[in-house]
Amino acid sequence: MAFSPKSLLVTGGAGFIGANFIHSFIAGNPGSKVTNLDCLTYAGNLKNLTSLEGNPSYNFVKGDIGDAALVAQKLSEQRVDAVVHFAAESHVDRSITGPEIFVRTNVLGTQVLLEESRKHWQSGIVTDFRFLQISTDEVYGSLGDTGYFTEETPLAANSPYSASKAGADLLVRAYHETFGMPTLNTRCSNNYGPYHFPEKLIPLLIHNIINKSPLPVYGDGLNVRDWLHVRDHAVAIETVLKTAAPGSIYNIGGNNEWKNIDIVNLVCDLLDARLGRASGENRKLITFVKDRLGHDRRYAIDATKLKNDLNWSPSYTFEQGIAETIDWYLANQEWVSEVTSGAYREYCQGQYGGGVS
Ligand code: NAD
Ligand code: TYD
Repeated sequence: MAFSPKSLLVTGGAGFIGANFIHSFIAGNPGSKVTNLDCLTYAGNLKNLTSLEGNPSYNFVKGDIGDAALVAQKLSEQRVDAVVHFAAESHVDRSITGPEIFVRTNVLGTQVLLEESRKHWQSGIVTDFRFLQISTDEVYGSLGDTGYFTEETPLAANSPYSASKAGADLLVRAYHETFGMPTLNTRCSNNYGPYHFPEKLIPLLIHNIINKSPLPVYGDGLNVRDWLHVRDHAVAIETVLKTAAPGSIYNIGGNNEWKNIDIVNLVCDLLDARLGRASGENRKLITFVKDRLGHDRRYAIDATKLKNDLNWSPSYTFEQGIAETIDWYLANQEWVSEVTSGAYREYCQGQYGGGVS
């Protein structure tokens, strides 16, 4: 029977995917409420959620997933029956220059959340419960020219980011195996869409093209990623939350592989037309730079299990999704300039008191 959560604790809901998920979930589940627990790192932006301010189905709590007392309080006070755990340090390049925060947030933070969730679930305060860990295909490591990651592929993370996510995934597995806790784990490919912080490839390209800045392409530009629209990811998460068997793992992907250089050329060309520049003008900004250390060559997801078991498949074509995303960034230049200038952090402070670390 389908699980019907009434009170969600969403962690990291002020970030890119979490914010898109909250918008999508609240729109589709008017009887449910969402508590968004986010400590507002550089990647957390309450401007991603302004349309929900004052909505009785939504409340924001500024706090750290590593704060056990706060997590316990919110779980019981809100009678939470589902934790959807997005909060993380998420950028591979940052994990190479500063891995420690990745372990603290992604591994230790997840451990605190799991432990408080276990106590809450075992207290019997709610009749049914799920803990959904949002993870990444990067935990599987890197592929050669052929083949796909399935849920059976051994974990072989290569970056400090993916290693910290793999550590968290194993803790989630352990809480299911050891305590019988009803956990779920999704592993998704690269997302794109609105509210994406412009340190990641696609929003960085759009931002730099608009500003006629160089477009850094790492190495030979032939690394491959599978791209999925963030709203398709949000729907997949909701589907898994409501209908997957406790203890299960699901890959989520778009069946949409692109070499980096092909994406770069595509975004350049789409923006030539939109910005009224001559055809080929933006490609002149492409700059090949030193490769990322340990740069995974190829990610490709086999999402057959999700399609066959739970009847999910993406609704966006890439052509539609990338065009809409570019148009969103063009229409939301104020959001972009606030993110790049850091002004959004003042807004976050002003809205909710407390400092933003
Ligand atoms: P993001 O960096 O945009 O957002 C992360 C959010 O977590 C921010 O709002 C930040 O303030 C918050 N946060 C960080 N540390 C916290 C802490 N200690 N306590 C509370 N909140 C904290 O990340 P994203 O791209 O939205 O990714 C969300 C999740 O999805 C991550 O777990 C990531 O590993 C996973 N994922 C991302 C992608 C992708 O393409 N971006 C793909 C697959 C999986
Ligand atoms: P990114 O968006 O950082 O996601 P991930 O590393 O999690 O896949 O990078 C996507 C791909 O684009 C990856 O192969 C690295 C490459 N890349 C560049 O070539 N230049 C850039 O400036 C960035 C940010 C990424």
